[in-house]
Amino acid sequence: HAKRRQLVVGNWKMNGNQQSNAELLAKVVAGWQGEHNAEVVVCPPNPYLLPTFEKISGSPIFLGAQNLSQYDSGAYTGEVSAKMLGELHCKFVIIGHNERRRLQGETDAQVAQKFIAAQRENLIPILCVGESSAQRENGQHLEVIGAQLQAVFDQVGLDVFKNAVVAYEPVWAVGTGKTATPQQAEEVHRFIRTRLGDLAEEVRILYGGSVKASNAEQLFAIPDIDGALLGGASLDAEEFLKICKAAD
Ligand code: G3P
Repeated sequence: HAKRRQLVVGNWKMNGNQQSNAELLAKVVAGWQGEHNAEVVVCPPNPYLLPTFEKISGSPIFLGAQNLSQYDSGAYTGEVSAKMLGELHCKFVIIGHNERRRLQGETDAQVAQKFIAAQRENLIPILCVGESSAQRENGQHLEVIGAQLQAVFDQVGLDVFKNAVVAYEPVWAVGTGKTATPQQAEEVHRFIRTRLGDLAEEVRILYGGSVKASNAEQLFAIPDIDGALLGGASLDAEEFLKICKAAD
């Protein structure tokens, strides 16, 4: 814990509009000024990256994106490259979120390519892994998570995780109100850490899945949990700030 800076990432997903974003960010920026132990990141939809950056600049809050293309440029209609995100002041990018794996059919191989594309432009990838409810019920969760990690390790090696973050998001806990129990999260976080080899103690591993102000403290008390990847809770300034403070 001591060596790793806690990190709270707000993944807005496909929510908000110019008006609601401005209101949310005004409150978040007012509540998160000056020096903090924890790092805070907001990940708005792409059209709002620049307006969000303008509102958070001067505060200690960082900007992140929710996805990127594995390609640098070319005939990829609707895609956004790492360079473009960098130019819009993104520092982080979420990769392999379960919604993209499930709804957009992103494969482990693509996730690995995106990881490489992000690091090439000095964006910090937040690599998401996690099992479905059926996989958990069958006791396959560690096997599934191990395979998701291995697919990336095979392509990029382990060293590059020096500048990366891993997020454990059990699919059954995302947007469902069901949070993993501290024991369940602890088991998986420990497992991921041991997989990181020499970097095990350096890499930040976030938990995501129905994190709220009411359960954040309990989760953050677990030594292998270094912060949270928030969905719903990041859309409510008060809730979001409470969680940031719990990590601080
Ligand atoms: O990326 C964050 C996310 O998938 C968790 O969503 O709404 O359960 O906090 P939520």
